[in-house]
Amino acid sequence: MGRRRAAIVGAGHTRFGVLPATPRELLCQAVDAAVASVDRGFERALVGEAFLGTLGFSGWQLGNASAVLAEEAGLVGVPVTRVENACASAGFALRHAALAIQSGERDVVLAVGFEKMNDTTSTRRRYWLGVSGDTEWERLSGLTFAGVYGLMAGRYLHDYDCPPEALAEVAVKNHANGALNPNAQFQKPVSREKVLAAPRVATPLGLFDCCPVSDGAAALLLVGEEMAHRFTDTPVYVAGLGAGSDRLALQERESMTSLKATQIAAKEAFRRAGFERSSVQFLEVHDCFTIAELLAIEDLGFAEPGRAGALTLEGATRLHGRLPVNPDGGLKAKGHPIGATGASQAYEAFVQLRGAAGARQVPHAERALTHNVGGSGASATVSLFSIQ
Ligand code: COA
Repeated sequence: MGRRRAAIVGAGHTRFGVLPATPRELLCQAVDAAVASVDRGFERALVGEAFLGTLGFSGWQLGNASAVLAEEAGLVGVPVTRVENACASAGFALRHAALAIQSGERDVVLAVGFEKMNDTTSTRRRYWLGVSGDTEWERLSGLTFAGVYGLMAGRYLHDYDCPPEALAEVAVKNHANGALNPNAQFQKPVSREKVLAAPRVATPLGLFDCCPVSDGAAALLLVGEEMAHRFTDTPVYVAGLGAGSDRLALQERESMTSLKATQIAAKEAFRRAGFERSSVQFLEVHDCFTIAELLAIEDLGFAEPGRAGALTLEGATRLHGRLPVNPDGGLKAKGHPIGATGASQAYEAFVQLRGAAGARQVPHAERALTHNVGGSGASATVSLFSIQ
């Protein structure tokens, strides 16, 4: 990388789900948990800057949400910036936090992701989900996110002669992993038969092909690498960061079966980290719909186009497979509070690489990749983490 690296020394995560907690309480819980997780010698007064990823779902504090984080995190006086890139908001907040450290501008930075989605009606939920898609054509023609990903899924199954069981297997695997994660919204395994027989939401996607509507928050404390051992014996380093963008609307893109933003972000992250894909032990990918997990595995460079379905059906992406994908249950089972997801994925990398993931621990994990997508692929971040 050639620059000062950022190291994560603390991380906090609320439960994801339909929660009674208010937005302020969620922010507070995640930040308090992150501070409490640092092994030694940490105090909030050390934080020099903070970034907050949130879509601002349901209009709660749509402007200046950063000031609320400053209040709830005990950081009034410290610069806080709200980052909004739809479902990739926290992936980009993490990126800004790490860049602030890499540049030498700050020594200690807080990155938080947050969303409260269940305090509004289902009609208003549809509106707030819709505002992150193309509002001129997609929304005008009645397309929801499930609808957009449904179009991608239909095209993928057709072009690659992929059986629908491959999509179902993504859901089965991620629900099985979610059952091992105490923070997950759904902690119950499901069978392939149940997934295939569930009501359709946007053909070919059914209920179990979709992420749920979730509340939750996650927080990360990053420091300059030379300071990391002051706070813990087991820091997790941000080894490489990549980010990319694409056109907003599906009809404007070159392909319906790959996300260019992911490809660009992955290429940059690996170039900066200086290591090969084969040295990564697990992936946390943005599976907002089951098809998205297959596209991610291919766009990140871990399978040839059209091959991720077979890889999934073989069991390679299961917790004890040769390339575990979404050991925490993914967006599918852990939940997807929009602005929180990128931070939640990095939280998983942090606990896994420290060997602290309990029943869902990936064996011998030393390097991990996280992948966070905005909407149907308009933006993406890829982050690589390492214990050395
Ligand atoms: N996966 C599995 N089960 C789900 C589920 C999901 N995604 N969503 C809801 N359920 C379950 C609920 O727990 C509930 O179970 P219960 O009856 O045992 O309590 C049941 O299904 C009905 O829940 P409800 O909230 O009424 O479902 P719904 O029909 O209103 O919503 C979806 C289902 C799929 C439409 C909704 O979860 C959704 O819109 N998901 C996509 C969100 C999204 O687009 N995010 C942005 C991605 S880019």
